[in-house]
Amino acid sequence: MTHRKTSVAVAALLGLSLLAACGSGDAPDTADAGAEAVILANGMTPKEQIDARQAHLKNYGKAFKTISDQLKASDPDMTAIQTAAANLVSEAEGMETWFPKGSGPDSGVKTDALPTIWESPEEFNQLVADFQTEAAQLSEAAQTGDVEAIKVAFGETGKTCKSCHETYRADD
Ligand code: HEC
Repeated sequence: MTHRKTSVAVAALLGLSLLAACGSGDAPDTADAGAEAVILANGMTPKEQIDARQAHLKNYGKAFKTISDQLKASDPDMTAIQTAAANLVSEAEGMETWFPKGSGPDSGVKTDALPTIWESPEEFNQLVADFQTEAAQLSEAAQTGDVEAIKVAFGETGKTCKSCHETYRADD
């Protein structure tokens, strides 16, 4: 289980590896005890939470690229746009729960989420809500099949990605 490897790594970071150095059969238990200390309020480990949200965010990127590519095409594939827009909406469900306390860079897990998320959670959650609203409107526009309306909604949605990344994501 990769989970276990993480537990061991986390325990090592906490300095519990000193105990494991005794070489007794207790070492694995010690590592597990260390892992239990870093369970988030939602029951996930920081790594599980970060992996899960990054997987959703990668899918935002895929959906967005599909729509962008189609909007540049001379004859956009409307079904591809509609599917991608609907995927974006469903991928974004529950985004406000993906950044629980303890799932930032302090966890020791690699993440581009900046500590500012937990310093200004209300502002962050507002940007989540703005994005979800725009994504829903993009999906509605996609249903109409009106390329110009889709372009406008796509632009508005893209602004919400950008304004969040500018403040809350590293390397952007
Ligand atoms: C409310 C804030 C917010 C919004 C809105 C948002 N993102 Fe992000 N995005 C983030 C944060 C924070 C990360 C870094 C997450 C991490 O590494 O734990 C991220 C990471 C990503 C990644 C990298 C995922 C990976 O690890 O490979 C992609 C791709 C991405 N976002 C695309 C988008 C797109 C496209 C949109 C809009 C359609 C969007 N995001 C909207 C905050 C946001």
